[in-house]
Amino acid sequence: MRIILVGYGVVGKGVTTILARKDAEKVKEYGFNPKIVAIADIDGAVIDPRGLSPEKLEAIKQKGFPISKDPDFGRPGMPALDVIESVEAEVVVEVTPVNIKNGEPALSHIIKAFKTGKHVVTTNKGPLALAMPALTELAEYNNVYLRFSGTVGGGTPMLEFAKKCLAGDKILAIQGILNGTTNYILTEMSQNRVTFQEALTNAQKLGYAEREPSMDIDGFDTACKVVILANWIMNKKITLKDVDIKGIRDVSLEALDEAAKRGNTIKLIGSIDGDRPTVKPTEIPKNNPLCVSGVLNAVTFSTEFAGEQTLVGRGAGGMETASAVLRDLLDIRHKLATKLLT
Ligand SMILES: NC(=O)c1ccc[n+]([C@@H]2O[C@H](COP(=O)([O-])OP(=O)(O)OC[C@H]3O[C@@H](n4cnc5c(N)ncnc54)[C@H](OP(=O)(O)O)[C@@H]3O)[C@@H](O)[C@H]2O)c1
Repeated sequence: MRIILVGYGVVGKGVTTILARKDAEKVKEYGFNPKIVAIADIDGAVIDPRGLSPEKLEAIKQKGFPISKDPDFGRPGMPALDVIESVEAEVVVEVTPVNIKNGEPALSHIIKAFKTGKHVVTTNKGPLALAMPALTELAEYNNVYLRFSGTVGGGTPMLEFAKKCLAGDKILAIQGILNGTTNYILTEMSQNRVTFQEALTNAQKLGYAEREPSMDIDGFDTACKVVILANWIMNKKITLKDVDIKGIRDVSLEALDEAAKRGNTIKLIGSIDGDRPTVKPTEIPKNNPLCVSGVLNAVTFSTEFAGEQTLVGRGAGGMETASAVLRDLLDIRHKLATKLLT
């Protein structure tokens, strides 16, 4: 499988590392022989149809140069769109920064990949939050697969669990703590009685929160994940504008104290049931399996036959998220192999 990697940051490097490991095992177990033939980042690209060496690229980065400075295969200034169009490959792995205003640059990368007959694996929530129904339709139209496990739950297989392990059952509702940053802040506030601002500052010091934290604390990140879950698991054709969103800025220590008197606490919950999907601070019992601490994520699927199923795991991290990319690549490989057999 020839792969074009777009974005060579935390997740992109995780992908090259994971794909470089255990090659023999992957080939034996899954018939999967991945080869990264091009990588594009903001400065340009590096292209080698025989497969790139992650160690060599890392060495270039370590010296402070962009990967497009590779003396043998570098293409300084070559935009990702040109790489996707001109390089022969089966899959584009899109791992550029999220943008929920217009989904770019990822949206154009994904559309270009589809139009040139390439499958897409992405960890970027932006294009999906803004245009998931249209993108899934476009993928079908172009006869390619779109996979995005890493967008929800990082390496924790929340989307696959619901889709594959609960296959045949009807998922009636989904509730989740889907953002580690806000969960860390609320946990700090309730357990250590620090104010929202103090908890946010701690989260920023520890690298859990961005310097511009709005995406997390105002609930947009959780809302993007709600959109992806609703489309993929519950077949709802919604986008970000269909979600009612309230973040955690106004959660006070007093409100947490009052909740504690009732044996409860407050969590930022993304919820999809019969009504309009919501993201809002919600009081839940401390003994609810969903009530996880720190940066953990958790999701509960309420099903018609199997009752409530809760999955808990780390919702982010470069290697964790890259492991989701690997799962998606294997899924596409499996689907292609099955197609050949039928
Ligand atoms: N990190 C996580 O734990 C995690 C977890 C789940 C999902 N995600 C999602 O995965 C995606 C990647 O995250 P990350 O942490 O790897 O981000 P990152 O470290 O900021 O890396 C982003 C990469 O994309 C490149 N890039 C930016 N604009 C580009 C363009 N126009 N064309 C080509 N490349 C471009 C950047 O190049 P420069 O460095 O040269 O600017 C960088 O290499 C994001 O959408 C994020 O939300 C991340």
